[in-house]
Amino acid sequence: MKIIVDNNPIECQEGALLIDVLLDNNIKIPHFCYHQDLGADGNCRMCMVEIKGQKRPQVACDTFVCEGLEVSTNSASINEVKRSILELELLNHPVDCPICDQAGECKLQDYYMDFGLYESHLSTPKTKKSKHIDLGSNVMLDQERCVLCARCTRFTTDITKTGELGIIGRGDQARVAIAPGHPLNNPYAMNVVELCPVGALTSKDFRFQQRVWFLDSAKSICHGCSRGCNIIIDYNETKYTSEKIHRFRARRNNAINHSFLCDYGRLSYKELNEKIIAAPCNMETLKELLQAEKKVALASPSLSLEQLQSIQEFCKNYKIELFSLPYIDESFGDDWLKTNDKSANFAGVKELGISTCQDDFNSSFENAEIVLNFDHALLKQQVFKDKTLVHFTATPCEGEFVFAIANFAHENGTLINCEGVRQEFFGTKYKSDAPRLRELLEELR
Ligand code: SF4
Ligand code: SF4
Ligand code: FES
Repeated sequence: MKIIVDNNPIECQEGALLIDVLLDNNIKIPHFCYHQDLGADGNCRMCMVEIKGQKRPQVACDTFVCEGLEVSTNSASINEVKRSILELELLNHPVDCPICDQAGECKLQDYYMDFGLYESHLSTPKTKKSKHIDLGSNVMLDQERCVLCARCTRFTTDITKTGELGIIGRGDQARVAIAPGHPLNNPYAMNVVELCPVGALTSKDFRFQQRVWFLDSAKSICHGCSRGCNIIIDYNETKYTSEKIHRFRARRNNAINHSFLCDYGRLSYKELNEKIIAAPCNMETLKELLQAEKKVALASPSLSLEQLQSIQEFCKNYKIELFSLPYIDESFGDDWLKTNDKSANFAGVKELGISTCQDDFNSSFENAEIVLNFDHALLKQQVFKDKTLVHFTATPCEGEFVFAIANFAHENGTLINCEGVRQEFFGTKYKSDAPRLRELLEELR
């Protein structure tokens, strides 16, 4: 069916929520409390629109579309309504943007520039609240910046069902709080930072580290487990340093992770910043080693399909038996996103027909003189007296023959997740200090 928005026809599903139709069509509709993965709450009133035939403005997050609906999102009168609501939201706000981590991606700032631009009418002092409350392992709260949208409390009530956060007090004393002795320590806690539309909730890890307008972004996939949550890698290159990754954010994908990540995956970016000290070795030495009779290779099940294919070809050329083994951790998975298989692409390994039999690997390994380790965690940090280990590694690793390779933040590739969904990921724009694995293998051909 069709509705009319700001005099333009828009196609939509009958019965859809008006705010979803507007958001999906990139029409600016300010909103604090509505979130596409939390649903409506109707508490902020920022999403007001004019509807033909209705006397008063209506909230778009509680309006369902029907044939013939005519909506105005941007008239002078509706903008005046939004301006008044925004002034109320900002009444006691400290406006400490210069020291706020959210500055640059804050909805209060954006909406003030879009609909506000007024001088404050407040003649009494602003209400003071606590500015740095430690909520738990990874999250800090500044109560003064909060707009009481209840996204964070709804996340812990409706999504994780852990219930750590609530809104207490009334009027200008209303504030987000945790009950004494119940810190926000659940494995998905940091999602509230991303859900918060303002700078009230900040990540202990990211706060005061970077201004967000200095960051570039790449669309990638978390490699923390076989769920394959969609992420944005935020990174930059600063003076005197090479590229540094500063955070992972969730990238919305309704088929996989909606708008959420687990804290383990979110913080796994740190490993990508570790520098690898490679032992001095060269291709000629490696080519000589590859002349040995008994050779075996173990490939990480978190490598991309493209990397695994190159390894397969390489092993075929040099007549090397190739295996891959999953990273199983029975204590990691849960009934939501996290899976016990902490490999990013074990389904890809199986699709390519790479042997995954532990017993076969053990007996081949036993007899081998040369072992090639393609970034598999099992063989890193281990020394075997009767064998020569050659590591191609994206993380720090001990050994005589170590070739540093670029990690997934610098790669484009494809992964297959635990449900068989094939997903592409893309690398950052800076070149890694280490070469890509496929380039190295190409040199060895
Ligand atoms: S802390 Fe943030 S997410 Fe929670 S109610 Fe306040 S503004 Fe909303
Ligand atoms: S559930 Fe798995 S894929 Fe998703 S963020 Fe956590 S570790 Fe990464
Ligand atoms: S987004 Fe509609 S009332 Fe808050």
